[in-house]
Amino acid sequence: MLDLIVRNATLPDGRTGMDIACQDGRIVALAPKTEGTAAQEIDAAGRLVAPPFIDSHFHMDATLTYGRPRVNESGTLLEGIALWGELKPLLDEEEIFARAMELCRWAIARGNLAIRTHVDICDPALTAVRALLAVRERMRPYIDIQIVAFPQDGFYRDPKAEGQLLQALDLGVDVVGGIPHFERSMADGSASITRLCEIAAERGLMVDMHCDESDDPLSRHVEMLARETVRLGLQGRVAGSHLTSMHSMDNYYVSKLIPLMAEAGLGVIANPLINITLQGRHDTYPKRRGMTRVKELIGAGLDVAFGHDCVMDPWYSLGSHDMLEVAHMGLHVAQMTGQAEMRAMFAAVTTASARILNLQGYGLEPGCNADFVLLQARDPIEALRLRPARLAVVRRGKVIARTPPVTARLTLEGEEREVDFTLPAGDAS
Ligand code: FE2
Repeated sequence: MLDLIVRNATLPDGRTGMDIACQDGRIVALAPKTEGTAAQEIDAAGRLVAPPFIDSHFHMDATLTYGRPRVNESGTLLEGIALWGELKPLLDEEEIFARAMELCRWAIARGNLAIRTHVDICDPALTAVRALLAVRERMRPYIDIQIVAFPQDGFYRDPKAEGQLLQALDLGVDVVGGIPHFERSMADGSASITRLCEIAAERGLMVDMHCDESDDPLSRHVEMLARETVRLGLQGRVAGSHLTSMHSMDNYYVSKLIPLMAEAGLGVIANPLINITLQGRHDTYPKRRGMTRVKELIGAGLDVAFGHDCVMDPWYSLGSHDMLEVAHMGLHVAQMTGQAEMRAMFAAVTTASARILNLQGYGLEPGCNADFVLLQARDPIEALRLRPARLAVVRRGKVIARTPPVTARLTLEGEEREVDFTLPAGDAS
């Protein structure tokens, strides 16, 4: 007997009437009308089953601290960094652990089963590093967590950062981070990229830098990130997060830059909610959107993923860790409204993220981990439109979260009706 069969699912690629059979934590069959019985059966009733959502860029050490010790009044990145600097000395390991654990529960309820979180290593005690390493171990059965060693105060600007970053990697942090645009000079930013990529190459690690998170069109550190990736043979293992300055760059320069990024196989991680909120704050009108060139980068064959970046912290006051909310915002900001474009926005929080994070066993195919989400929607575009209930979240063949369907009951003209915001079957297009 199988552990679990999900019957009559629609898959993100458009296949309908599919049964997903799971055994020992893996998908063992994926076909219409699978024979056999299972300990648990779920009738998907034609609804969408997607691989789990992935948050490819987050800060678990800062999350759920909104208002402590005060609110970011200007709404800028730099006031957020200053505010985080005030908050850091007030935090201890137990408290960071508790907040990050709660965020993981929110993530799982939303069907997000992988998170790449940055952790600030500019604290001599590495308090947040220890807390998040403990969260990664505790939540390992339920959610994949990658931790990035992030020198928030600058790899060279903070004289202690290099030693502490190496110490964090020794403790088991997975990925090398950076923040070249925050160093004191362009030259320091470039030098930090070289050193950090060398550290990653020596240790066989991936790289994910906050890069060019600025409206300054001359912030061109991504060029150096691509160069060092090629020089050190790190293709496919390096991601540039944010890249917001690309929004403001000269088009001629970008026509040279994007092919260099493609040559390096850079992963691109935009954070639509945060980019649209933090960037453009020095503009009057017209006001820039501040998100990187998502459409052009996808068009050039690069993998583009979306991250949530922040939930209720010094930089962002809202959010519930819903990656469909992130994709919905990304779709609007990037004006990705064609059918294939909207599907690419769904991929930016699922399959494209998985490729950038190099997740093993991800996807809906026999042999993959039995991890997936049943949504109250019939296809990825309807999921983006409705940001619907995650009816069931499955991890290694077991249901670990459920949300009841959202249906409104109306009493109009003496009649009872139900509304769930979907068109009747067959009329969806
Ligand atoms: Fe970030």
